[in-house]
Amino acid sequence: MTTARVMSSEYMWWAKSSSHSTYNLANSGLAGYSLADLPVKIEDLEINGTTFYGYEPLQKAIAEKSGVSTDCVVATNGASMGNFLALAATLDPGDEVLIEHPTYELLVSPAQYLGAEVKRFHRRFENSFSIDVSEIQKAVTARTRLIVLTNLHNPTSALVDEETLAAIGEIARHAGARVLVGEIYLDAMFEEAPRSAFHLGPEFIVTNSLTKVYGLSGLRCGWILAEPELAQRIWRLNDLMANIPPHAAERLSCIAMAQLGTIRERARNILDTNHNVLSTFLSHRDDLEAVYFPRGTVCFPRLRSGRVEALCALLREKYDTTVVPGEFFGMKDHIRIGLGCEIDVFAEGLSRLGLALDDLRGKLEERGIDAKSTVV
Ligand SMILES: Cc1ncc(COP(=O)(O)O)c(C=O)c1O
Repeated sequence: MTTARVMSSEYMWWAKSSSHSTYNLANSGLAGYSLADLPVKIEDLEINGTTFYGYEPLQKAIAEKSGVSTDCVVATNGASMGNFLALAATLDPGDEVLIEHPTYELLVSPAQYLGAEVKRFHRRFENSFSIDVSEIQKAVTARTRLIVLTNLHNPTSALVDEETLAAIGEIARHAGARVLVGEIYLDAMFEEAPRSAFHLGPEFIVTNSLTKVYGLSGLRCGWILAEPELAQRIWRLNDLMANIPPHAAERLSCIAMAQLGTIRERARNILDTNHNVLSTFLSHRDDLEAVYFPRGTVCFPRLRSGRVEALCALLREKYDTTVVPGEFFGMKDHIRIGLGCEIDVFAEGLSRLGLALDDLRGKLEERGIDAKSTVV
């Protein structure tokens, strides 16, 4: 059985057309870092360069940051193109791909677009969204070519430990498959961040970018780490779609790479403050149930009673605040709260979420339903 070819992303459509509000807690990344805060001189930029398969200074900066050699690095237009190329380079139509559930929708829809058969393994609320390696073991077949997960996990920020990753690598190796790990949120662990899964063996492919933790989405500085032979194939595949990247962006990316320490400190200040506010908020709400991780840029609480759709509509229309409805991750009782926005915006957005929850509780009580009970 092949999965129907998907030609669009419902989540991206929603994110681009409906997620905006004054108190936007729908974004999984840090508030935008400004060009004015980078030490850029006009003479540092140029329109045309000599990049064909990677701009050498940027290749070196990514390789150094990741602790790999430059022949393992494929620079991409954001982690989005990185994910697409990694999927396209490893999956033929009819191949099976085993993808975590819940996950970022744009790991699933491109696989369906490519004609792969998508199977899922579960990261369950009851197990703190950890990975049950035995479930992967049981689900792998002779047709499995790729196992896909995110670390930190989008939408929950759960960390997958190295032992679990190594066990998944082992399963993949025996099956003749590879493991794609999206590490776009991993740097939000700061000095506690483990090394990249790429170092665990040649079957690992990693995607990453400066978009989320560094607030540099508009730079589109993304990359893939892959063993050199695969990296070479990915460069050649990229020729079908992207030719060369904008050279000015490559140069700006190098400047940003040299400033990552400073940019990281800003991210840490925002996230530390917002995590304190969120953990206090959650401890006072008996209508939300969360597996809370003190690191990461997102949290994925479950609404105990009532409909998330009604909550999100109320939040948006009455309180000018947005969170991501869990349905975009295949879990309709949850909401994803992003912690990366400016601290005053976050505190206000969260208090508005509290007001919307109170309103919802009032409506449920009118119908004789207890907001703390797990019923819909
Ligand atoms: C797991 C994951 N990969 C990739 C992306 C997109 O990354 P980029 O903005 O670098 O293209 C996202 C965005 O939310 C994501 O969550």
